[in-house]
Amino acid sequence: MEMTKKDTIDAIRPAYWRAEALYALDQRLLPHRQVVVRLSTPEAVAAAIRDMLLRGAPLIGVAAAYGYAMAAKRPASLEKAARLLLASRPTAVNLAHALRRMRAKAAELRRAGVRDLYAPLLEEAHAFFREDLEANRRMSEFGARLLKPGSTVMTHCNAGALCASGIGTALGVIRRAFRQGRVRRAYACETRPYLQGSRLTLWELMREGIPAELLCDNMAAHIMKTERVDAVIVGADRIAANADAANKIGTYGLAILARYHGVPFFVAAPSTTVDFSIPDGGQIPIEERSIREVVEVFGRSIAPKGAKARHPAFDVTPHGLITAIITEKGVVKPPDRRRLKAVLG
Ligand code: MRU
Repeated sequence: MEMTKKDTIDAIRPAYWRAEALYALDQRLLPHRQVVVRLSTPEAVAAAIRDMLLRGAPLIGVAAAYGYAMAAKRPASLEKAARLLLASRPTAVNLAHALRRMRAKAAELRRAGVRDLYAPLLEEAHAFFREDLEANRRMSEFGARLLKPGSTVMTHCNAGALCASGIGTALGVIRRAFRQGRVRRAYACETRPYLQGSRLTLWELMREGIPAELLCDNMAAHIMKTERVDAVIVGADRIAANADAANKIGTYGLAILARYHGVPFFVAAPSTTVDFSIPDGGQIPIEERSIREVVEVFGRSIAPKGAKARHPAFDVTPHGLITAIITEKGVVKPPDRRRLKAVLG
């Protein structure tokens, strides 16, 4: 079955299934080149996730589900494939969530005496994809209602069609709100060091005709102080049981700025991003990436030879700084442990 993205306004397809393989848009080459890569083994899927060929919390969950289904062609390798996929990136819990679900399905099939697991596991991966697609749509509806007509919004990293199965999480909200006249323009923070904001988010916004401007990350405070920003909307990679939310490095700083300037700060994330097993944000594993991504830009050094650096790829925003968490099951406002549980069940 070929995956569809009916609800995608501009038909950006970061990954789709066709003829026994997952085809993924190589996001490392955007915005300049659009190259689609064929991934036909769990090893290739794990490497694509690890090397950021595809990225974004919901999308890596969907890719992992397909990677696991591919492994069913060699049933003895299912557990190995699950471990490999799980180890590909640590922060986004969608990956673990997808694999837990796929493993449970495999166990159920085995208990029922099913011998060939490939077709039913592939169907489960398709179902996982379709649910994410639908979650995008619902989040965009819930989220758009939170914005006043004519709003100027700011976002960080890429939480758009490139990170999910449908129109995206935070960018899905912005897309729908734009169509409803609730968003007039958007600021995309560039998101050093990997530049998801400038390379990916601005690309998505411009394709769609949403008036958008790029900000270096250190311009956000000045813009919030001197101009009208009506809301900040970001995605999340893992939300702890108390509603603390991990997202791309720089998000926490933006949340502090938003609070100081009285700007509502929204997190849009599907329920697959919530990890009730983790009591608070302090326990969320934060990926440390190579410092080469900090001391180099597109392969060119921007620091003295031998410079030391740090590269935490995510940070955690305490729930007290979040105005609302927008999920496909409803809006958690203000977010805390009790309300998160109540909305997600
Ligand atoms: O390192 P990345 O590009 O995978 O990080 C992505 C983000 O931090 C997104 O904001 C997050 O996954 C939310 S996408 C719905």
